[in-house]
Amino acid sequence: MPRLRRVQEPLFNRLHQANAIMLIPHKYELVFADLESQGWAIVDDLIPDAILENLRSTSRLVWQQGGFREARVGSTHQPVRDVSVRGDTICWLEPESAGSVYHDFQAWADQLQQYLNRYFFLGLRRSEFHFARYEPGAGYRRHLDQHHGQPHRKISFVLYLNRDWAQGDGGELCLYDPQDAQQELRRVLPRFGRVAIFRSDLIPHSVLPARRVRWSLTGWFRNDSATLATITPSPASNDEDPDSHPTGRAA
Ligand code: OGA
Ligand code: MN
Repeated sequence: MPRLRRVQEPLFNRLHQANAIMLIPHKYELVFADLESQGWAIVDDLIPDAILENLRSTSRLVWQQGGFREARVGSTHQPVRDVSVRGDTICWLEPESAGSVYHDFQAWADQLQQYLNRYFFLGLRRSEFHFARYEPGAGYRRHLDQHHGQPHRKISFVLYLNRDWAQGDGGELCLYDPQDAQQELRRVLPRFGRVAIFRSDLIPHSVLPARRVRWSLTGWFRNDSATLATITPSPASNDEDPDSHPTGRAA
């Protein structure tokens, strides 16, 4: 499997490199080591409780206010709703939609982006996120987050916002073998505060139907700039937008 490249410093720079690595908290280093070796990582307790709580309550509030819309898929510039592929409704995280938690979460995400860039040669420049809500029975068929001709999504990020999620509630994220997409590698329950991070170009994944309403925040770290993306016409996509969400924020 192709691996992410670690930053390789010349030998005489070893001390410098050691310092650079030390600037990444240990918890993150463990996540990045998994990301490096297998292309994905699952971690609990990465995000401060206050941000987590705020994201949780904001997602519900925005939904009650009618701020979500049906996610679409399609191979044209006018993607369509196809619940047999993807059954969630989403709301992009923007200052207008998310209020104060937008800034708090985005600051946290910018920091994660910095750590990722310090650990890997990724050249990440911005990130974009949306809340997602799956009704009971809705799922998302197996897919890759990066599509042909749209190489800018590098790292996928999913944070789960469901309290008291039990084994029997379903709604697992399934990760598949990049060499053999029939081969399931791992099922992840969407438990409160849990984070899945994986390579957008490499890891096939799906969402199994749940028995309860399932809430998450999903996003991507990208290596293009927002300005470029808004002026460059995007080629066909087979999932929710585009190359890309124009308000995706540069860090
Ligand atoms: C997606 C996705 C996974 C999940 O939105 O692209 O794959 O567990 N989400 O919600
Ligand atoms: Mn996905």
